[in-house]
Amino acid sequence: MIHRLIRYFRRIKLPVRLITLMIIGVASWFVVVSCGTLDGKQLGAKVPADLVADYIYRIIWSERTIYGKHVVQRLKDENVVMASEHWQQEKSLPLPAQMFRMSSELASENSAFSYGAISPWSLNQNNSPNTEFEERAMQNILETGLPYKDYQVKDGKKYFSALYPDKAVSAACIDCHNQHPVHKQRYPQKVFKVGDVMGGILVNLPIEN
Ligand code: HEC
Repeated sequence: MIHRLIRYFRRIKLPVRLITLMIIGVASWFVVVSCGTLDGKQLGAKVPADLVADYIYRIIWSERTIYGKHVVQRLKDENVVMASEHWQQEKSLPLPAQMFRMSSELASENSAFSYGAISPWSLNQNNSPNTEFEERAMQNILETGLPYKDYQVKDGKKYFSALYPDKAVSAACIDCHNQHPVHKQRYPQKVFKVGDVMGGILVNLPIEN
């Protein structure tokens, strides 16, 4: 079959052969390009906002866990360097919570996208729930221990927001918070126990109308 085609092709005059080859070339280019455009359209496929928030939360959670375990805890165990709240003055490592806040500030610079940790028993006052959504979501995760998601309008902009429970996974969490001078002064009644929801990780995704 192919041999017969080649033989037939050879019988055609050279200019016609060249033109045929050019037409085949242009047609193949067109097919490739239109497939490319099709791919481009597919890339624009929408991912549900709640799934995007879940993915972002997974990154936040894993980075925080790895920093706590493989940097802070390991260097402390090996007597290399400690983590402390006044890390700049004391030449120590930033606490996981501070590392987390600094990255979240950088990630949300010049952008409506933001994330952070909030709590009704916050050590840093900037981390207190302060929108209607944040208060409702916090109430909800404290009662259920499950993530809470909804749309909200903040400063005239629409967001899909999600709050994930931040639990006291180890004694280190509760020891540091319960004994912190700010905690003792502001929330003397609140004594965290291991397993308690200490606050939440908030993800705000700006969305188009
Ligand atoms: C060595 C002390 C220390 C340890 C350990 C620690 N934290 Fe914190 N945490 C802080 C400080 C200090 C802040 C405030 C950071 C800032 O400036 O935003 C904070 C902030 C937070 C916040 C945001 C609300 C707030 O208090 O400002 C949450 C929620 C939180 N921590 C939960 C946890 C959990 C859960 C753990 C354990 C996995 C943990 N923390 C371990 C010191 C600690």
